Formats: sequence, structure tokens, C-alpha cells
Amino acid sequence: MNIEEIKKNIEEDISSVISLNVLNEIKTKYLGKNGVITSLQLRIKEIPAEEKKEYGIMLNDIKGFFNDLFEKTRTKLLEEEVNRKLKDDAIDITLPGEGIISGSIHPFSRIIEEISDLFASMGYDVVDGNEIETDEYCFKRLNVPDGHPARDAQDTFYIDEEFLLRSQTSTQQAHAMEDNSEKTPIRIICPGKVYRRDEDATHSHQFGQVEGLVIDKNVSLADLKGTLEIFAKKLLGENTKVRFRPSYFPFTEPSVEVDLSCFKCGGKGCNLCKQTGFIEVLGAGMVHPNVLKMGGYDPDVYTGFAFGTGLDRLAMFKYNIPDIRYLYTNDIRMLKQFDRKGEE
Ligand code: PHE
Repeated sequence: MNIEEIKKNIEEDISSVISLNVLNEIKTKYLGKNGVITSLQLRIKEIPAEEKKEYGIMLNDIKGFFNDLFEKTRTKLLEEEVNRKLKDDAIDITLPGEGIISGSIHPFSRIIEEISDLFASMGYDVVDGNEIETDEYCFKRLNVPDGHPARDAQDTFYIDEEFLLRSQTSTQQAHAMEDNSEKTPIRIICPGKVYRRDEDATHSHQFGQVEGLVIDKNVSLADLKGTLEIFAKKLLGENTKVRFRPSYFPFTEPSVEVDLSCFKCGGKGCNLCKQTGFIEVLGAGMVHPNVLKMGGYDPDVYTGFAFGTGLDRLAMFKYNIPDIRYLYTNDIRMLKQFDRKGEE
């Protein structure tokens, strides 16, 4: 056995190794079952007794040489692998970050929030109602007679004989009176969606309304006027003018239609307000005695007022949205303008 030659072979084999897999193959070549060093170990039996000691020392020398070189190379390869990984996975912290796109509050939700806050500050409760209703609450309890055009299937979405999609938030008047079992005073608003079978280009099947109802002793039309004036001025600005015109609703008597000075021209007259300076925004009136009676209130003791307004128009007024369709097409460029960042 030429010890120097074996060492040279080991050195040559190991120095060319570039991966841990190949290094392990070399270990098998030398120390495996049929490996070079293993075979030398097995041959010790054939060595004469007096040479055994020297042979053993030599074997240990070769084994030590192999193990040293093997471990050194293994450590080196492991280090190289770690360095390679670090380099590949490195993050360039000098690159600009990706901006986070945050959502914004939809003008429709925002107008509801603002109106709710305003009425809550005047002591009103904000209540929710059902969008699926019955003829009873949408019409009958609101004194809408049989044969009234609003009951026509051309105006209202009927689900079946009994159920329909509410065509007005006034349904909540009937519910609020019925639900108040003590028949104590009521002061509520109810914002929500309503549905009508309007089919032209400027009306959508679904739109927003907010209903208001106040019932107490000695409530008068003057209270209604004062309330709506505060509402209009707080929401749209102190310069907003409010105009009442006589009107008709089956559930109020007397009834009024309420116009607000045009948000576009401020009342001077323009194409939006058809040169009148005003835009019709609310329906309102004193709660009809029949409606009070059906709700369990004695009309000789209690009076009340109610009003209903379209949320879409108010949002257009308030946020200067020129086209009602912008409220429903969800164009991100429009919605982004309602980002509240920096506002809170
Ligand atoms: N519900 C009526 C409408 O949708 C508005 C209204 C509400 C009128 C309350 C009077 C009182 O047109």
C-alpha cells in the first residue's frame, strides 16, 4: 500500500467536488462497504503480526487525512450554499415601496352618515327597516286607498300577492307607531333603499330615501318647517333657501312639497333648476289622522309630522356630483374623491 498515492487520490477527488451530493459519493467510494479505506481495513487479518501495528498506524493516518479533508470541504460547501441563498433572496431596500390603495366611503353611505349625525344631534333615533314589505305597511296603514296609482303593478315591484319591494321608506312610519306599544312620543329617521318600476334614463329602479317621523302632543306645521330649515341649512349651507308648496300625499294632511335653492346656480336660475332657482327635494306634511289611528295613536291627543327625501339628490347637492348615474357606476376615479384620508 502506497500511502502517499492514496492521499493524493483523496486530495484530487475531493478538491474537484462542487456539491454536497458528490462529496457524499466520494465518502462512499472510500469508506463505504466496498470503499478503498474499508478494504484496506479488512486486509489487516492477512498482515503478519509484527507488521500489524505499523499497518494500523498507517490506516489511521489515511482515515484521519480523509476525515479532515472531508469535513473542511463539507463546511466550505455549506457556507457557499448559505451565501448563495442569502444573495438570491436579498431584498433591495432602496427600491421604492408599492403604494397601498385604500378604499373610500361611498357618497351614498356618507350622506346617510351625515344626515344620521345631524338628526341624532336633534334627539332622533336612527332606525332600520325591511326592504321586503307587505301591501299592508307600504300602503294600507298609510291610508293609500285601493286603486291608488302607487299600488299599480306598473309602479311597484310585487313579489307575490302579499309581498313587495318597498316603494317608499314611509313603511317605517307604520312600523314605528305599531312597535311603540306604550304609544309614547316618537322621533325617528329611517334611511334606506327603495324600489320603483321607473324606466326612463334618469330614474333608476333602486334609489335612496330617508324618512322622518315625529309624533307628540302639540306638534305643528311650524315645527316641520323649522326642522326642515335646520336640516337643509346644516347639510347644504346657511345660504340654502327652503320653499314650501302645497301638495298631496294620502298619509299626510296638509301635505307639502319642499324645494331647496338650486345648488348649481344658488337660486339665480340655470339649466339644472330649469330657470326656477329651486329644486324639489322633499315630500312632507302632518301625519293624517287615519294613519295615527291605525298606528294606535289618538289623533285628538297626538299630532305629528313626517317627511321623506331622496338621498341621491341630496348627495348630488352636497358633493357637487353633476350626474346621478355617477352614484351607481362606481367609477373608482369618482369614488377616490371621497377618500377621507387626512380628514379624520
Ligand atoms: N313617501 C313619499 C314619497 O316617496 C314622501 C313623503 C314622506 C311624503 C313622508 C310625506 C311624508 O314620495
